[in-house]
Amino acid sequence: MNRKARRIAAKRDLARRSSPSDTIGVPHTVVDLMDKARQSYRQGHGAQAESLCRQVLALMPAHVDSLNLMGIIAQSSGRHKLSVKMLSRAIASDPINAACHYNLGSSYQAVNQHENAATHFKKAIALGLSGNNTEEFITRNPTIATYLDRLEKEQLLLHQTDFFDASGLESIANDLFLRCAMECVVLRGRALEMLLTRLRFAFLRFATANAAAPRPVSDDLVSCLSALALQCFLNEYVYFQTPDETQHSIRLRNLLLEQLNGGCEGEPITLAAVAAYFPLYQLPGADKILKREWPKTIGELITQQLYQPLEELRGASAISALTAIDQGISLQVMRQYEQNPYPRWSLDSQAAALTEEGAQQADVGVEILVAGCGTGRHALQVARQYPKAQILAIDLSVPSLAYARRKTLEAGFNNVAYAQADILKLHAIRRHFDRIEVVGVLHHLADPETGWRILLSLLRPGGEMRVGLYSEAARRGIVEARALIKQRGYRPTRDDIRKCREDIFNSDGDGRWRRITSNADFYSVSGCRDLLFNVMEHQFTIPRISKFLDENKISFLGFEEPQVIQLFQRQFPEAALTDLQQWHEFEKANPMAFRHMYVFSVCKQTHA
Ligand SMILES: C[S@@+](CC[C@H](N)C(=O)[O-])C[C@H]1O[C@@H](n2cnc3c(N)ncnc32)[C@H](O)[C@@H]1O
Repeated sequence: MNRKARRIAAKRDLARRSSPSDTIGVPHTVVDLMDKARQSYRQGHGAQAESLCRQVLALMPAHVDSLNLMGIIAQSSGRHKLSVKMLSRAIASDPINAACHYNLGSSYQAVNQHENAATHFKKAIALGLSGNNTEEFITRNPTIATYLDRLEKEQLLLHQTDFFDASGLESIANDLFLRCAMECVVLRGRALEMLLTRLRFAFLRFATANAAAPRPVSDDLVSCLSALALQCFLNEYVYFQTPDETQHSIRLRNLLLEQLNGGCEGEPITLAAVAAYFPLYQLPGADKILKREWPKTIGELITQQLYQPLEELRGASAISALTAIDQGISLQVMRQYEQNPYPRWSLDSQAAALTEEGAQQADVGVEILVAGCGTGRHALQVARQYPKAQILAIDLSVPSLAYARRKTLEAGFNNVAYAQADILKLHAIRRHFDRIEVVGVLHHLADPETGWRILLSLLRPGGEMRVGLYSEAARRGIVEARALIKQRGYRPTRDDIRKCREDIFNSDGDGRWRRITSNADFYSVSGCRDLLFNVMEHQFTIPRISKFLDENKISFLGFEEPQVIQLFQRQFPEAALTDLQQWHEFEKANPMAFRHMYVFSVCKQTHA
């Protein structure tokens, strides 16, 4: 990777972040000194800034901002060992500081400790990069920025073969941060997608040429292609392909299969290129891949594309069925989420940000139901919040449950029982719960209110339910996109989803689809299917929610999202936070306020 560029970016990053952070309880002298240090640094007086930081550290040896700034100053003057030392001390004081992890990753990279660098880059990504997008950090590599610029300006065709020159490819291949990002999060943005799509095709051609006439390939190149293959696996191969490219990938896959069946040593680069088009665990020779020893450069690829999915297939047999699933819509919804388990997630960002606070300790014996748990991120969040509770998490889709089970066990929780069940039949299980969570699920039922009432019947009096429902006002753009899909006759297959995405991208010149193309779900097949192709989607309004609560005698405890609550309080300072009539007025004035969903809690009255 381009270290210099990364260092410059890190400096800019600090400048942006250098507004005084938490100054409560910090002596005035320290606050003043730190302000001066930042100012000196911004004005290019590194030595003076460093001296001021040292004064801060003499007063407060664990002062994070000061250690971070010292780390960056040392980094920019090539004193990488000192930088590693300072940033490690900063992280010891504040283990969930994304900026420090990012900066430490850069310093480790500068001293060629790539494994340590990757650990800290991934931690920074998991921690949300201090509110910045991973994509923004990727474009800080000037080579990548230049290519993205060309793509936006020239609208180059996918089959153009001379898009990357050798030094451009090398610079991209060396970019460790890009590699980390591709390995662990679904990346967003049209320009970046176009770049990665072309990069994949360039690598495919490279790997094919290499299979015909093998020559040494750098570890960076193999690692980069392997990371790109993981990105494609994560987004379920959502990138558009020309027919020529598809044929090309099939030929390389067949060659790999021949090599494996013939007992030949396949090249890592061939395996990684094939994995960028086909999930390895689905290849007929998957077991043969596992029998061979592969270099470290593709270790993560083998883990994520072979070991983990095979483990899930085995784990699926451990999932029991609590109810039959035999009703029309439930069956269709089940098929959708079996073909495309949702949400796609790999990096456990909750674990990265884990602090002691937040866990409810008084939860021994508490019984919790997570209804429609999907791939487990939600259930795991509940498990972390209530580590001593007994949690039952149900869903229609066994592959989603198997994914959830693997992730939960990996995270070290054994208090979640996963089972297949239809909410509409759950009353048959004859169990009751102190708390029920149903987020993003009821609106996919044939009749959401019926499902909601069934869940209420399982809730103990006084128990709380956390509910997430789509807002009609916020989903108008989705309705328009669904109309386009209907008009063009796109089906919910991977090929049609790819075509539909191209169509949306290409007709977005006026920003008409901006809300859709900026939605993270647009960047994976399962996300797109959940977002735009759902077999069943109801939308709610606040009066509809309010009517249900009144009819069923349950109390509204409040919405969840702090920013929305703040806005409401600013606009309706006199109103109670539980006044749904006022919330309805608020939503009329702010139709996108619940763009994610209405997420709220209700309480079942003791004598309901
Ligand atoms: C959009 S996903 C949400 C998953 C999870 N709650 C989350 O927030 O990550 C919806 C999930 O609801 C499940 N689902 C839909 N209808 C259901 C039903 N009748 N019974 C049980 N699960 C259902 C689907 O299988 C799918 O996994």
